[in-house]
Amino acid sequence: MSSLDTIRESWATRAGFILAAVGSAVGLGNIWRFPFQVGQEGGSAFLLMYLFFILLIGLPAMLVEFTVGRRTNRNAVGALRKIGGRAWQYVGGLFILIGFIILSYYSVIGGWVLRYFGGSFTGGYTADSEAYFFEIATGFDALLFHAIFMALTVGIVALGIKQGIELAVKLMVPSVIVIMVGLAIYAVTLPGGTEGYTYYLSPDFDVLASEWRSIVPAAAGQAFFTLSLGMGVMITYASYLSKDRNLAEDSGVIIGFDTGIAILTGLIVFPLLFAAGIGAADPGPGAIFVALAGAFAEIQYGLVLGVLFFGMFAVAALSSAISLLEVVVSYAVDEYGMNRPVATGIIGGGIFLLGVPVALISDGGNPIVIDLYDILAAEILLVIGGILVMVLVAWFNADLARDELSKGIGRLGALGSLWIWLVRVPVIAVLLISLGLAFLGYYEFLSDEFIPFVSG
Ligand code: PHE
Repeated sequence: MSSLDTIRESWATRAGFILAAVGSAVGLGNIWRFPFQVGQEGGSAFLLMYLFFILLIGLPAMLVEFTVGRRTNRNAVGALRKIGGRAWQYVGGLFILIGFIILSYYSVIGGWVLRYFGGSFTGGYTADSEAYFFEIATGFDALLFHAIFMALTVGIVALGIKQGIELAVKLMVPSVIVIMVGLAIYAVTLPGGTEGYTYYLSPDFDVLASEWRSIVPAAAGQAFFTLSLGMGVMITYASYLSKDRNLAEDSGVIIGFDTGIAILTGLIVFPLLFAAGIGAADPGPGAIFVALAGAFAEIQYGLVLGVLFFGMFAVAALSSAISLLEVVVSYAVDEYGMNRPVATGIIGGGIFLLGVPVALISDGGNPIVIDLYDILAAEILLVIGGILVMVLVAWFNADLARDELSKGIGRLGALGSLWIWLVRVPVIAVLLISLGLAFLGYYEFLSDEFIPFVSG
């Protein structure tokens, strides 16, 4: 008997599925990546572009992944094979690869977050926040906390869908939301924070006009990354779903939460930074850590806020990490009939190893391998993965997709066709343009930063 004939797990409740998807979506992408992209790509000009992409690309793309998952009840590889035939399973293979890459550096950053969480209890980061970051970002500490973060992720995924992931997210996601809202309200009371709101919320169209070549791919990549699209997470999560859910409604809820949390992060981070006299963070993966730790050291009750902020941050990162690992684990379990805990342990170990260079290699303290992995995965691979699934579904299997979406909704009417045509032309076109620009950007990164670094 192949493993596909055995009984597959499913979510216990509707809330379980939605919370798991929100937990996946809300993570480092919202709290670490989003503010640093905003800082790097021209503040609110980026914000505007990003919101536009969330609606134009994120929503239709999420619906595509959900229909594929629920239709097939398979892991990402099996799902694409079932819909597209054997050749398409390699696209699923690409997803597995992306999962490996993203989780490997995600976990290193998750480790930093754990470390900062601990640091807020001891006041560890208050003296010199930049020196502190450089000390822990690479080297032994980074490796140790990368291992701890990975072990937590493995522990939850090994327990399975209902007992592991669903239970975890039911605790995790509400606490993240409550703490975020609390911090955002607190931020309003900060003297000197107003400038932060201005920087964040008043779009500068000149920047958009002159910098669109980097803003467009960054915003498209960020839209995919933050919604966990383009690598099969939403396919996998929807594969544990029963037929009667309204997928459009669920997508709306999930995207609403994710976007809300991203916007809220900006409403916390920027006033904090300006109130502490730091200003918009310098671009770069470490910026948010250095700047926030600096801010927490400056303002009243900073360390208490630090405990709340980094605690919430760690939980958010963990609930995304479990979804990344689940994509790979469900593949091993479905396709090879592997025992879940064993598969989870082995895969988790492999991903840990891939993260070792990220944790150890530094360019004068700067964890440079993160950029190497992150730009490749988020701006290039996720977008390629996304384009391929969109083509498969919208061009070759539109009827099947419409049929699947209509379950739990009823007649779709013209909206169903609008969805398919939105994906067929504008979504795919924007993604292709972003991909081209991202290749150029990555080439520049490699030739201007990475190759000179490697060759000393
Ligand atoms: N969406 C997650 C975040 O914002 C990251 C992620 C990307 C998770 C891709 C799964 C897949 O942090």
